[in-house]
Amino acid sequence: MKKIGVLTSGGDAPGMNAAIRSVVRTGLYYGLEVIGIKRGYAGLIEADFEQMNRNSVSDIIQRGGTFLLSARCEEFKTKEGRAKAFKNMQQEGIEGLVVIGGDGSLRGAEIVNKELGIPAIGIPGTIDNDLAGTDYTIGYDTAMNTVLDAINKIRDTATSHKRTFIIETMGRLAGFLTMMTGLAGGAEAIIIPEMDFDIDEICQKLIKRYKMGKLHNIVLVAEGVKEDFRTNQPAHDSSAFSIGQIIAEKTGQETRVIILGHLQRGGSPTAFDRILGSRMGARAVELLMEGESNKMVAFSDNKIISRDLSKILSMKKEIDMDLYKLSQILSS
Ligand code: ADP
Ligand code: F6P
Repeated sequence: MKKIGVLTSGGDAPGMNAAIRSVVRTGLYYGLEVIGIKRGYAGLIEADFEQMNRNSVSDIIQRGGTFLLSARCEEFKTKEGRAKAFKNMQQEGIEGLVVIGGDGSLRGAEIVNKELGIPAIGIPGTIDNDLAGTDYTIGYDTAMNTVLDAINKIRDTATSHKRTFIIETMGRLAGFLTMMTGLAGGAEAIIIPEMDFDIDEICQKLIKRYKMGKLHNIVLVAEGVKEDFRTNQPAHDSSAFSIGQIIAEKTGQETRVIILGHLQRGGSPTAFDRILGSRMGARAVELLMEGESNKMVAFSDNKIISRDLSKILSMKKEIDMDLYKLSQILSS
């Protein structure tokens, strides 16, 4: 293998830059040419390529986002779109591909392997941490710390006004980010799509907290909870508002709802995400050089390993029930 490409796709995540930097520098170290592909799969289809050198990835390890830019590219989901991508990769002489992104992006990588016959390695990069087979995805740790910072700030104003806050966190359909920040942030209640909950029980708890002298309540709701609890119908966008309204009615507490939104995706990556991105990027290049394909790099028991990409994509990551129980005990 002489030339490889690297792209970032789907929702950006802090630490992606560290991973790109590692792919580029590891590749160059082993004598490979490395091509940076702009805007995810859109850049493959439009041949938006840039030859990488050592300096191309200088001064990016500390930055959030992705300097290669990202995209959600519908055209790559079509055979015609992929045929254009294949032609461009052949013309450029790209013999292996590293894809950094979430489950959708890694599905794209699986197709590059199976349909286009070009070895591709996936690196899990998403704040949602919703990929099976890896304890952590790149960006998750930074996003957890961003959410915690927001909870701390909200708690200040909540206490001053003796208010109950409903905070909606990201995670797409999964509750990992919400559960772990609820645990670390000392939330009174954590509502995630994977677990049933009883709104009356939660309201009783919030009332009890005030009776015990507490001056605020924090309820975390994952964006993946998609039911309007006023009507028991699917919610158009956010459930946090209907949950907030019910809590206000049932507890009589002054209640505010806040959607943290995309600020959870930004910011300088933590040391953990920089190191994770660096380790995963290097391993992805090594795998290509070892002649591997259709693999996802993963982090397990503090080791960087590789797993079969198709198998990972067929699995659903489960909530750690011990941690969920702990979060319930500590907020009881
Ligand atoms: P994420 O990677 O963050 O989960 P998406 O699910 O939006 O984000 O996927 C990102 C991109 O990956 C899509 O816009 C598309 O270009 C590509 N992709 C997703 N699913 C597929 C698929 N089944 N086949 C081919 N490409 C896909
Ligand atoms: O997958 C990362 C993520 O931030 C999810 O948590 C969220 O549901 C989604 O992307 C938002 O996507 P967009 O940036 O397209 O609004």
